Amino acid sequence: MADATSYKDLGLANTKDMFRKAMDGGYAIPAYNFNNMEQLQGIIMGCVESKSPVILQVSGSARNYANSTMLKHMAEGAVQMARAEGSAIPIALHLDHGDSFELARSCIDNGFSSVMLDGSHHPFDENARITRQVVDYAHEKDVTVEGELGVLAGVEDEVSHEVSHYTKPEEVEEFVAKTGVDSLAISIGTSHGAYKFKVKPGEAVPPLRFDILEEIEKRVPGFPIVLHGASAVIPQYIDMINRYGGKMDDAVGIPEEQLRQAAASAVCKINIDSDGRLAMTAVIRQVFAEKPAEFDPRKYLGPAREELIEMVKQKNENVLGSAGKA
Ligand code: G3H
Ligand code: 13P
Ligand code: ZN
Repeated sequence: MADATSYKDLGLANTKDMFRKAMDGGYAIPAYNFNNMEQLQGIIMGCVESKSPVILQVSGSARNYANSTMLKHMAEGAVQMARAEGSAIPIALHLDHGDSFELARSCIDNGFSSVMLDGSHHPFDENARITRQVVDYAHEKDVTVEGELGVLAGVEDEVSHEVSHYTKPEEVEEFVAKTGVDSLAISIGTSHGAYKFKVKPGEAVPPLRFDILEEIEKRVPGFPIVLHGASAVIPQYIDMINRYGGKMDDAVGIPEEQLRQAAASAVCKINIDSDGRLAMTAVIRQVFAEKPAEFDPRKYLGPAREELIEMVKQKNENVLGSAGKA
């Protein structure tokens, strides 16, 4: 295609090296979702300041929201911003939950260095077929591909399933061999969004199925595994949101200790969207509650961006273990 843009021209990296180092080092690469400039700046600065590799992650609907042409230049701008700060951290631009070959191809032709084909709602053979099609196109251009086996529970805009079907370890080897994917998202009890479990106040959430993860690791040793739906739903932000006029009483996420355990295993990529949304929303609500006359977006988006930087640094340092690895 004459006017295609390679990610290499934007200064981006694919995920191959990141995952190999994360696997060897027993940590996970953070994959933070974004839709707008403040989120992108917050993620980049958080990773620059904590010296962490980063995957910038965009869903199909986020790409539509930002505009696909704008998005390409935003990603390039993010790389340039990091370099201007004197940072050489590797930065990937990844399509999150791609649902068709056409979408994946469009992203690959417009500067993405990594794509997910999420065919997990299809039967095994159909999932493998579409994923293979994406892998063939992507690998020609040195773009890495994430597949998914097993279905997560939870509801998040366009990513919605009422029940969870854990990944069947006995299917993993065949899927990886048939598709040629570079990494695989699995279902072991996480879910998307801010309401991951229905628990009574004070009750512990059900633990992730590390037994399934171990079984998968045995079948594909050293193969990069991805954990979706991995926000902790940080209680401090839920408290702030509720204190300043919001209503998110039953919000609950994955305990950080379990995420640390996952990061030390074959899980090389941990997806975080909800926690970033919550951090910004909490601060924006606080500004609006305390300064009801404020109407300059910089006065609420600015502090929200600062909070996101802190959240990203905290995650990289204390949960994923990616800080200092770039
Ligand atoms: O896993 C889904 C991500 O959180 C993206 O959500 O479709 O609302 O952009 P979105
Ligand atoms: P959370 O909703 O837990 O942040 O998960 C995000 C995700 O998996 C994006 O693909
Ligand atoms: Zn996801």
